[in-house]
Amino acid sequence: WVIMVTAQTPTNIAVIKYWGKRDEKLILPVNDSISVTLDPAHLCTTTTVAVSPSFAQDRMWLNGKEISLSGGRYQNCLREIRARACDVEDKERGIKISKKDWEKLHVHIASYNNFPTAAGLASSAAGFACLVFALAKLMNAKEDNSELSAIARQGSGSACRSLFGGFVKWKMGKVEDGSDSLAVQVVDEKHWDDLVIIIAVVSSRQKETSSTTGMRETVETSLLLQHRAKEIVPKRIVQMEESIKNRNFASFAHLTCADSNQFHAVCMDTCPPIFYMNDTSHRIISCVEKWNRSVGTPQVAYTFDAGPNAVLIAHNRKAAAQLLQKLLFYFPPNSDTELNSYVLGDKSI
Ligand code: DP6
Repeated sequence: WVIMVTAQTPTNIAVIKYWGKRDEKLILPVNDSISVTLDPAHLCTTTTVAVSPSFAQDRMWLNGKEISLSGGRYQNCLREIRARACDVEDKERGIKISKKDWEKLHVHIASYNNFPTAAGLASSAAGFACLVFALAKLMNAKEDNSELSAIARQGSGSACRSLFGGFVKWKMGKVEDGSDSLAVQVVDEKHWDDLVIIIAVVSSRQKETSSTTGMRETVETSLLLQHRAKEIVPKRIVQMEESIKNRNFASFAHLTCADSNQFHAVCMDTCPPIFYMNDTSHRIISCVEKWNRSVGTPQVAYTFDAGPNAVLIAHNRKAAAQLLQKLLFYFPPNSDTELNSYVLGDKSI
């Protein structure tokens, strides 16, 4: 016999960034972060997990290709969910798995992204969140989504925020074992449903410095990071939560752009410096800044993760349509700029 569970999880984009770990093994961050979860129709991971007595070992396929599960991050997630497994019974098929059986049984995992894995579009966030959620359902773990987020966090930090829709806060936590470093929902997906997210894919090449390596070097060498984590982010988190709750776009846009810029400044302050944005990214920033200034009130916010792709959050559909017009004018498809495709991220609406 085989028992299978399939889950689908969207990716998330941070508006207050996570950058830097205080504990690399448990993946504990140096500051809180806030993100928006995208609509699963546009950018998500679909994962099927299966268990059968005929499986000789745990195995995983990513986009159809087998990958190794020996890495610590996968092992952490598998171990933590197995430790919480409960009895499972399928009466119709006469199958019974007791809590103890899970220690001996192996799982097969098949995971697909509906977007390029290496495009710098936070595929690890959706991937680990989906893996943990699907395993928890298969093994009948009783933990709620916040508790599961603390497990997904041990796969990839940003993954903990993909267990919820809407706007989500990852609380850095205080205790050493990391049990209070988990995600909570700030508002659900219906709260601010006129926002529209457009991702301008500047390059789909794999990033040169992975987030994990990049943030390690930043923690070791950047004084600006310490100032950011202690003095800047705690205040920004409070202001950002207020802006989201009050649907105050001007304040939301100001904080989002400022935090993205500071994250990239911290990368520059790293030794050796890390450059994630390129000339096209900088031109997009200038274009949005100029437009916002000319209108008087911000219409669009931009944010960039560990890569050159722009995530643009428009106030509403009208602003999104105007933004697309502008982008197509300044960056026509197949022009000599690298910017050649747009992905509608929409919000988890
Ligand atoms: C720039 O979650 O990919 O996207 O915890 O090492 O797996 P690891 O890093 P990861 O880092 C994401 C960094 C970011 C900002 C963010 O999502 O908050």
